[in-house]
Amino acid sequence: MLDKKVAELLNEQVNKELYSAYLYWDFANYYADEGLDGFRNWYEVQAKEERDHAIMIREYLIECGVRVTFGKIAAPDVKLKDFDDPLKAGLEHERYVTSLILAVYEAAAEAKDYKTMQFLDWFVKEQGEEEKNAEELIKKMKLFGGDPKGLYMLNQELAARTYVPSANLPANA
Ligand code: FEO
Repeated sequence: MLDKKVAELLNEQVNKELYSAYLYWDFANYYADEGLDGFRNWYEVQAKEERDHAIMIREYLIECGVRVTFGKIAAPDVKLKDFDDPLKAGLEHERYVTSLILAVYEAAAEAKDYKTMQFLDWFVKEQGEEEKNAEELIKKMKLFGGDPKGLYMLNQELAARTYVPSANLPANA
């Protein structure tokens, strides 16, 4: 049986991950409208990964015998005016998500819930990678995004990102 607080935080995290998917689809909508299909693709892949994170946490809760409940998913509220706005908002969002994951981790540690801590290890690592990716994207945009040729090349590069389902996904996902 999971500690009540740990179960609540994980249940909330399902919602936060689904919001993350919403947010990144929103970024993809913006880039689709601007004709930057590579950037659109990058965030569509990102959104699928976020959806998968929600699936993984939901599955873990079910495995632990927790009755999962769903709340409303908030509408994305980031104003997107410039091409680098989603990139900056994405980094800020990932830093926020890292803080949430660490808060669940701390609650699990406090409850001596080693199983959940082990489950969350993957997410801690994943957050490190996602923050790094978001930082690198901002750097690239700063270096190359200022002129049309550079932006075109960067768009091409981001078009090549492909979705790879995580090995931790449940078989029925
Ligand atoms: Fe699932 Fe990027 O946090």
